Amino acid sequence: MSAISFQSVSKAYPSPRGSQSDTFLALDRVSLDIEPGEFFGLLGPNGAGKTTLITILAGLARATSGRVSVLGSDVQTDYAAARRKLGVVPQELVFDPFFNVREALRFQSGYFGVKHNDAWIDELLESLGLTDKAHVNMRALSGGMKRRVLVGLALVHKPPVIVLDEPTAGVDVELRQTLWAFIAKLNQQGSTVLLTTHYLEEAEALCGRIAMLKQGRVVALDTTSALLKAASGNVLQFKIDSELPPSLKVGARITGRVVQYPATDALAIERYLAAAREAGLMLQDIEIRRADLEDVFLEVMKRHAPAESPTAEVNA
Ligand SMILES: Nc1ncnc2c1ncn2[C@@H]1O[C@H](COP(=O)(O)OP(=O)(O)OP(=O)(O)O)[C@@H](O)[C@H]1O
Ligand SMILES: [Mg+2]
Repeated sequence: MSAISFQSVSKAYPSPRGSQSDTFLALDRVSLDIEPGEFFGLLGPNGAGKTTLITILAGLARATSGRVSVLGSDVQTDYAAARRKLGVVPQELVFDPFFNVREALRFQSGYFGVKHNDAWIDELLESLGLTDKAHVNMRALSGGMKRRVLVGLALVHKPPVIVLDEPTAGVDVELRQTLWAFIAKLNQQGSTVLLTTHYLEEAEALCGRIAMLKQGRVVALDTTSALLKAASGNVLQFKIDSELPPSLKVGARITGRVVQYPATDALAIERYLAAAREAGLMLQDIEIRRADLEDVFLEVMKRHAPAESPTAEVNA
């Protein structure tokens, strides 16, 4: 039995006014099966449909068509059972401003019918670096701290399936590491983890398998290592202080002063360097590295670039 099963899930929203079609497909027949114990990454650019998929998984929105289940419980027909098996950290910061941190965790615990949970609540507070904030009102917490509490709230009933929608957005480096160590421990103890993040180095380090979504469709699905192996190989990277001539912009990924080229072999690297020398560019911090998940991600998104219109008619 899959931990999470999405079977041909589509979600149509009314189109923004002025568009040609009546409906807009935020999800287009997404099928994914995540096995118990997996650490699974769901990646995609803004608006790809990640949160929509998670909202449907959490039973907070209805799929237009398709089925979704958590450890065998259908999220529509068996909502309460499915919900109990799930711990969801939402992307949006939502919380009750009247509680302090410990009260919020206790209340959530009660909501799931879990009694005498203080030992686990203490462990959560400790693992999330919130012990000294236990009595602070939710209103008085910083953004990053609120996000930590959301993680605690999701885990308070010890769900076997943990879903994290950008849990590290706005979280400082130190806590990110503690948070990942904690989630990795839960995963080693058997919890299934579904993660969305825009920090691709986190996904690369943590996820055994990854799906990439673009405009509501699954455009890549494989183990992280297979995705990395299929990438173009190496990347030549350097920094420059001046403008890159147009001829050198072809195929380049430019981020501020940093220029990167995917390069399959030494010859390609030599060619780029020779062209840069001919153009009289002063190169700094030259580096040749293996392609990473960010390179793979950009390659996959580009390959599916001139996408068909994301809008479509749905009769469901
Ligand atoms: N309630 C809604 N009504 C209409 N359109 C919506 C609604 N919720 C989401 N959408 C649209 O569905 C698409 C997918 O949104 P979604 O929030 O799932 O993206 P995402 O992959 O989570 O993006 P991000 O990385 O920015 O969080 C977007 O085009 C969004 O505008
Ligand atoms: Mg989202």
